[in-house]
Amino acid sequence: MIELVKATKTYHSGGDEVRAVDSVDLRVAAGEFVAVVGHSGSGKTTLVSLMGGLTRPTSGTVMVDGRDIWTMSNRELSRLRSDRIGFCFQFSSLISTINCLDNVRLPASFLGDHKGDAGRAMRLLELVGLPEKAGAFPSELSGGQQRRVAIARALVNEPGIILADEPTGDLDEETEEDVMDLFEEINLGGVTIVMVTHSSRLASRAGRTLRMENGAVVEEVTRAPRSEYPLSSDSV
Ligand SMILES: Nc1ncnc2c1ncn2[C@@H]1O[C@H](COP(=O)(O)OP(=O)(O)OP(=O)(O)O)[C@@H](O)[C@H]1O
Ligand SMILES: [Mg+2]
Repeated sequence: MIELVKATKTYHSGGDEVRAVDSVDLRVAAGEFVAVVGHSGSGKTTLVSLMGGLTRPTSGTVMVDGRDIWTMSNRELSRLRSDRIGFCFQFSSLISTINCLDNVRLPASFLGDHKGDAGRAMRLLELVGLPEKAGAFPSELSGGQQRRVAIARALVNEPGIILADEPTGDLDEETEEDVMDLFEEINLGGVTIVMVTHSSRLASRAGRTLRMENGAVVEEVTRAPRSEYPLSSDSV
């Protein structure tokens, strides 16, 4: 479903060359929940930006649903990004001049279909625990509440893939757990999730954890499927 083949992203800053992502081979299957961890500057944001077609690789290939996304027309690629993928990025801010309900509806308005109707947007605000803020403007919300509205917005087009870059970055532990619960629930519904996080506690709830260092995936930990967890010694 998402596949990187020798994907490399090089930046040039101040005469230096930085390999933000360095020849990464990676496959994320449909329905997986993958966490990406690693030190600051290790390439996590660049990796998920490559996966979502927000950044073009300097070399190598990025495939989504079996297609090399950089051979698509601009129109096809923007359709893929708006229709198929929900982005929850570190600094993805809400539009300050419209209320929360309209912020949630906004991505659907580009598709011109029913997904952005007010009832559905309201249900998404309920899902993130903020139905009472529908009419409020983003500036009237706390940082964590804004983050949750952004998550509702990422879900409005019923994406098959969610790419989240530290979605719980500025949340308190309790709200962080709520967001994780929500992601797990969405994932159980079949949505593929790739989530960058600094928290090893949160990463441990994903099915697979990738650790990045200097642009490379240096470690991979796969956990048993959730359904196997109840195995206890007396059931063997
Ligand atoms: N637009 C850019 N121009 C130049 N260098 C960049 C750019 N974006 C990222 N880099 C560099 O690429 C490397 C990887 O950056 P990236 O943002 O992917 O790291 P990260 O793992 O997400 O870090 P953090 O945990 O701090 O968010 C860093 O060395 C960074 O300085
Ligand atoms: Mg980052």
